[in-house]
Amino acid sequence: MSLLASRLAPRIVEEDGAFRTRMLALAAGMPNVIALGRGDPDFHTPSHIVAAAKAAIDANHHHYTGPTGLPALRTAIAADLKAAHGLDYGADEIVVTAGAQEGIMLTMLGLCAPGDEVLITSPRFTTYDTAVRLCGGVPVPVPTYEKDDFALDVAEIERRVTPRTRMFVLTSPNNPTGAVTPPAAIRAIADLAIRYDLLVVADEIYARMIYAPNAHLSIATLPGMRERTVTLNGFSKTYAMTGWRVGYLAAPGDFVAQVTEPRHTLSINTCTISQYAALAALTGPQEPVQQMLADYAERRAWLMPALTAAGFTYGHPGGAFYIYTNISSSGLPAPEFCERLLRETGVMVFPGTMFGDTSTDYIRISYLQPLPLIREAMARIAEFAHGA
Ligand SMILES: Cc1ncc(COP(=O)(O)O)c(C=O)c1O
Repeated sequence: MSLLASRLAPRIVEEDGAFRTRMLALAAGMPNVIALGRGDPDFHTPSHIVAAAKAAIDANHHHYTGPTGLPALRTAIAADLKAAHGLDYGADEIVVTAGAQEGIMLTMLGLCAPGDEVLITSPRFTTYDTAVRLCGGVPVPVPTYEKDDFALDVAEIERRVTPRTRMFVLTSPNNPTGAVTPPAAIRAIADLAIRYDLLVVADEIYARMIYAPNAHLSIATLPGMRERTVTLNGFSKTYAMTGWRVGYLAAPGDFVAQVTEPRHTLSINTCTISQYAALAALTGPQEPVQQMLADYAERRAWLMPALTAAGFTYGHPGGAFYIYTNISSSGLPAPEFCERLLRETGVMVFPGTMFGDTSTDYIRISYLQPLPLIREAMARIAEFAHGA
């Protein structure tokens, strides 16, 4: 072991990234893999957004912005949150971050003290675990179940509240399940948060991707919730902008003022050119987004009955672009299922264990390929699982 590795600060806990690395390395060495693994849209960023970035380069926008972001972008984000979700934030209550990812870290740096317990909708985007642990906190998974289409049950949250519980991470729609927590449950969660004096982190990165009749409700719009909620969102998913690294957090202005210096320490500001691209995303035509959403809806509508026909069950996803599929009928545990599926058929999906699931019955299928490729992948998955 190197000297540096032997002197790691105790906040660095060993995370097992070996499986993901192995899958990605394996896929890189194989021709024509159908990748339904990562949560990265197959669409390119809409061309008017790319053009705005090129224009920003040509206009010499090559410099730092303020740590909280371009004023025009913060204003546009505040207006968009109001129009899309009825959220009331001023421009000075927005921090533009390097993806929602940096927003997660910044939120935990701001709110999570050593020993704090953080309840997290599960299975989950495990960045939350890492961010909480880096701050000395303790992630506490709140399970959701296939029988409920993986919707949150407020009783499961309440059962896990202790005197150390500091906050609840509400991700709706959720990754990896696509589950949308219905408005009635969101109201019950708000009541619970107020009753137990919990803070809420509302991760709404998939909130534009909701399939009828499901509905999204932003918890910070409910009475008494704005003051105890950090709302996280970003451009990666809605605008197919994963590589541009633009996200944001929205929270009361005095909290924003307190996290501005830590944000400056993390990366000073989000890439200036990307911020101009994000501004064009919000202020430009929305038709490309509508088209992408329509394509996701079509893929989802095809995939659900195809999975059923192939003998799989799943939680009906109300949003996002994932189907959390039960592969127990194959007789294989999910990690082995995924590794062999990739090696033997060239289809990449991820096991639920990569999302903190203690069950080995599930895989996450991202429907982020054109429909003909999804059809081909589905045929290979069915044949692999059941020899059908
Ligand atoms: C629930 C959730 N939050 C946050 C992120 C981070 O997104 P980004 O940093 O690209 O904005 C992701 C990415 O997959 C996610 O699934």
